[in-house]
Amino acid sequence: MTKNKKWILKKRPKGLVEESNFQFIEEELSELQDGEILIQTEYLSVDPTQRMWLTDMPGYLPPIQIDEVIRSGGMGRVIKSKNERFDEGDLVNGFMGWQTHLISDGKGFTKVPEVLPIPTMLNVLGLTGITAYFGLLDIGQPKEGDTVVVSGAAGATGSVVAQIAKIKGCNVIGIAGGEEKCGWLEDCGLDHVIDYKATKATKELGRIAKDGIDIYFDNVGGPLLEAVLFKINLNARIVICGAISNYASTDMPVGPRNLSSLIVNRARMEGFLVLDYLDKADEARQELSKWLMDGKIKHREDIQEGIENCPNTLNRLFTGQNIGKQILKI
Ligand SMILES: NC(=O)c1ccc[n+]([C@@H]2O[C@H](COP(=O)([O-])OP(=O)(O)OC[C@H]3O[C@@H](n4cnc5c(N)ncnc54)[C@H](OP(=O)(O)O)[C@@H]3O)[C@@H](O)[C@H]2O)c1
Repeated sequence: MTKNKKWILKKRPKGLVEESNFQFIEEELSELQDGEILIQTEYLSVDPTQRMWLTDMPGYLPPIQIDEVIRSGGMGRVIKSKNERFDEGDLVNGFMGWQTHLISDGKGFTKVPEVLPIPTMLNVLGLTGITAYFGLLDIGQPKEGDTVVVSGAAGATGSVVAQIAKIKGCNVIGIAGGEEKCGWLEDCGLDHVIDYKATKATKELGRIAKDGIDIYFDNVGGPLLEAVLFKINLNARIVICGAISNYASTDMPVGPRNLSSLIVNRARMEGFLVLDYLDKADEARQELSKWLMDGKIKHREDIQEGIENCPNTLNRLFTGQNIGKQILKI
């Protein structure tokens, strides 16, 4: 008998999550049936979208229901298999959930070749890198010489976006919170970095982006978008990737009051979801792998440990404690 430890939802959180929103339980898993695999979780990907799934609002995936295990991407090892697609020892990627073990019929899980450390595969070569790649290249369509502003720039997605923009010959301005994050972005080769916690970002943008902004890659939402819209160039592209400043808030977000700037500047603002690009993920992975090998993309993974730390680790994204990709080693 295998014992599984897992976190289930008990009460929907307001603001940051608290342990009392969940219950941590231990259960005995049943014997494997034909066609099933037993997976042991190795690493969880900790993502801002999980906070959205805890809210009872319609989204691109259904909200997590009370008494359900918390949905979470990650990688795990097949430790028993009665499914011909999988062998014991295979590394697999999919929705593991906040749990140490799970039994699955294998649907939704893919085998992963172990070419790089797992945290790197969850970061630059995982959904994070694929989001950055298609968000910037397909929606943002950067051209050499463009000025690109990235919010949440020291985060998992933002740091890859900013470096791809550099590879494409753009002038890149990253916005992030704190000295250490900004120092790292300078090491990554960005042209300008704004520490929004130490300075007034809207004012700094005006000073730095003197020739206007061609692309804004928005990871955080909130008032910065309005400041950017005042500074966009003709045919600018605003890529709406995320709005983390709203996910844990109970207030309705305040929208930008100057959308008419999109008309004046014949500009485009477009949201996208990485899930729509999964059939082209290999294209992104190949290009990203090349840039990684050539040292053109630097990456950081922030690895916390222990299944008991799931709630605290999720909060790190919202308090800005993570630098680079937030991961939990189980
Ligand atoms: N569209 C898609 O398909 C897709 C896919 C993946 C991710 N996303 C979105 O991309 C964004 C980044 O995700 P990620 O996984 O790469 O996380 P991340 O950027 O590694 O971590 C989140 C960062 O957001 C910043 N932040 C948190 N609260 C904030 C606030 N109130 N105002 C401003 N900044 C705040 C913090 O950085 P600072 O310390 O610098 O503030 C924090 O480190 C999220 O909005 C996520 O939902 C979208």
